[in-house]
Amino acid sequence: MSTGHITLLTTGGTIAGRGAHAGNASDYVAGSMSATDLLTALGHPDDLPRIETQELLSIDSKDMTPEHWLMIARAVEAARASASCQGVVITHGTDTLEETAWFLHLVCSPGKPVVLTAAMRPATALSADGPMNLYQALCVAALPEARNHGVLVVMNDQILAASEIAKTHTHALDAIAAPRTGTVGNASERTFCRPPAPGSAGCVPLATLQDDATLPEVDILHVAAGSRPALLAEAHERGCAGVVLALPGNGSLPDTWRDAALGAVDNGVRVIRSSRVANGSVSTRTAAILPGSGVLNPLQARIALMLELATGTSGLFARLAAGHG
Ligand code: SIN
Repeated sequence: MSTGHITLLTTGGTIAGRGAHAGNASDYVAGSMSATDLLTALGHPDDLPRIETQELLSIDSKDMTPEHWLMIARAVEAARASASCQGVVITHGTDTLEETAWFLHLVCSPGKPVVLTAAMRPATALSADGPMNLYQALCVAALPEARNHGVLVVMNDQILAASEIAKTHTHALDAIAAPRTGTVGNASERTFCRPPAPGSAGCVPLATLQDDATLPEVDILHVAAGSRPALLAEAHERGCAGVVLALPGNGSLPDTWRDAALGAVDNGVRVIRSSRVANGSVSTRTAAILPGSGVLNPLQARIALMLELATGTSGLFARLAAGHG
């Protein structure tokens, strides 16, 4: 019998949501249940290791901040430092799960599994998806095969790579998906069908960020037909260290934005061309004028840039944009 344990870190989300009516899956308060409530809903499966819990946050993930990411990352590394800890599971809201997962993927060293899970239906709903997702996440976190893959996400019977996911639906149960690459495994059978590319896992060790570190402000500007280029100057005036432009097509900068973009760069703002299109990469054609985000979507590009600026790791953004760590 293993003496190891899995650490369960809870942060809130719909998986811990409480609603007034079991038949209504959209009217509820996220983050209203304790870690004990979540585990009680699993019954007592005899195939789970011992679980130690730590309640970090009880929030709707729309309110997650970079300060929270740092706090969660420190809790992950502290938990994994215990010799008897086999892995860590984090419950989280789906709305910003892809951001927290990508941040943790970049700063948490490879090794003991780190698995995020969530739910689309509140815990009080009929056919709530949270208990099965949590159970499967705990099982996957205990698998030796789940080590060294970078951060994983378990939801809806799927094992996904944190570096490949996005929220792709506002209310369907399979709202978290890896649109470009698909799953890396089957959470129900606890098997992997392909190893995720872990290249970028832990490429910015948490130790390179001071204990009191804050992440610099980087904004995403979604550029629509006719959007005002003055938005860039406003971002600079607000003190943004960087701006990721979510541009049309493969990262095409409208002619009307060119002077504003180059002016912001002259003022010391890092300006990145990304794309508002869900799939495909950003063209390198005009990279000499403004660097592109390559394979990174705007949310990922923002976090990569924040980490490069916070740690002074030269070339980090370019390596991640090229798909390497
Ligand atoms: C949240 O992101 O905290 C609420 C929505 C969800 O978990 O699906």
